[in-house]
Amino acid sequence: MISAMGELAVARVPYSVNETLQGFDQADVLALEYLQEEALLNTQSRVVMVNEPFGAMTCAVTKAMVALDGSLPTLWSDSHIAHLGLQHNAYANKLPLAHFVPAQKTPQGPFDLVLFRLPKSHALLRDQLQRILPQLTPSALIIMPIMVKHMDTAVYQLLESLLGTVTTSLARKKARLVFAGKPAGINSGKNKAALKQTLKPVETSWELPSYGLFLHHFSGVFSRTKLDAGAQVLLHLFPKGPFKKIIDLGCGNGIQAIFAAKKWPQCEVIGIDESYMSVASATINAKANGVAAQCAFIAGDCLTEIPSQSADLILCNPPFHQERVMGDQIAMRMFAQAAQVLTANGEFWVVGNRHLGYHVKLKRWFSRVEQVGAHPKFVVLKAQL
Ligand SMILES: C[S@@+](CC[C@H](N)C(=O)[O-])C[C@H]1O[C@@H](n2cnc3c(N)ncnc32)[C@H](O)[C@@H]1O
Repeated sequence: MISAMGELAVARVPYSVNETLQGFDQADVLALEYLQEEALLNTQSRVVMVNEPFGAMTCAVTKAMVALDGSLPTLWSDSHIAHLGLQHNAYANKLPLAHFVPAQKTPQGPFDLVLFRLPKSHALLRDQLQRILPQLTPSALIIMPIMVKHMDTAVYQLLESLLGTVTTSLARKKARLVFAGKPAGINSGKNKAALKQTLKPVETSWELPSYGLFLHHFSGVFSRTKLDAGAQVLLHLFPKGPFKKIIDLGCGNGIQAIFAAKKWPQCEVIGIDESYMSVASATINAKANGVAAQCAFIAGDCLTEIPSQSADLILCNPPFHQERVMGDQIAMRMFAQAAQVLTANGEFWVVGNRHLGYHVKLKRWFSRVEQVGAHPKFVVLKAQL
């Protein structure tokens, strides 16, 4: 990445020499140019970066702050992959590692500069803005680098409702900067208890009486307001078992993991998700549904950290996008890794949209693929080695 703040080696993670997508975009480059032109970094700067996908801007700011002998920036994100990206890119550029705060926690200010990449989820955007504003100094500047195609009226209106006056830079190379200050009135008149309250993330909860489940969600969790239709089809056609070692791959709120733990009280379940808010919500949910002793939820990228041949059942409702990048590349990595982690007689159960053609794709790694049930929109597939 070449910007006004110098040159950096920036990669996406998981790292691949064949990767065709970049780990940064022109909105990052525009933001770094603005920081440089306006001389916004100095030894006193307290900088927080929000939702950066691979830590490119965070590394550029770290480099500048190290040269100034200032403090390290903080990256605040819901993504474990972003955390890995930051680690990879800081190491590749021989930079100290910026502070990292997962999205269910709130970074402790005061900050005077915020570089905020807007997430796709409006619920997460609203929650993060509401929690970061009290952590800002009165004269703090919020810069939101964005690709023009992602700036629609709904986002703009949401920003105005939360931040008051919002201005934009001219567009360059299809990127823009959106600027805001700290709205007047935030913090004023609030006592310490009220301020502490703003540190807490927004939560939504609902019950599924037919499955005996109560589920709680932080703002970044998939399908946080209702049961996902695909998840429902998988719950309905659930494997017969019994099984001993189960993995819920891309666990979200932990629904499949918790249902499995309740169904087979002797089994051990691991739920994995790249969203920290999902892992935190699923952990709360396992406790609330009485299966905490059987379940462990971990932040991870697919099954990278899981030993080979260690699970006799893997359940998966795969993602169909990574933030704004649509496609089945993550699902394909999940399938390939599931084939490694499954025991010889193990079962890999996948629910997916009928049109995605998972039935054919799974055959790259599994010798037997069977459709166990269907729904007008979804199919449930059982794959075996
Ligand atoms: C379609 S949702 C399914 C959530 C839940 N299992 C359900 O059935 O409602 C897919 C989940 O995969 C997670 N995910 C995306 N990329 C991932 C990755 N590289 N490693 C692990 N989980 C990932 C997402 O955060 C999301 O929670």
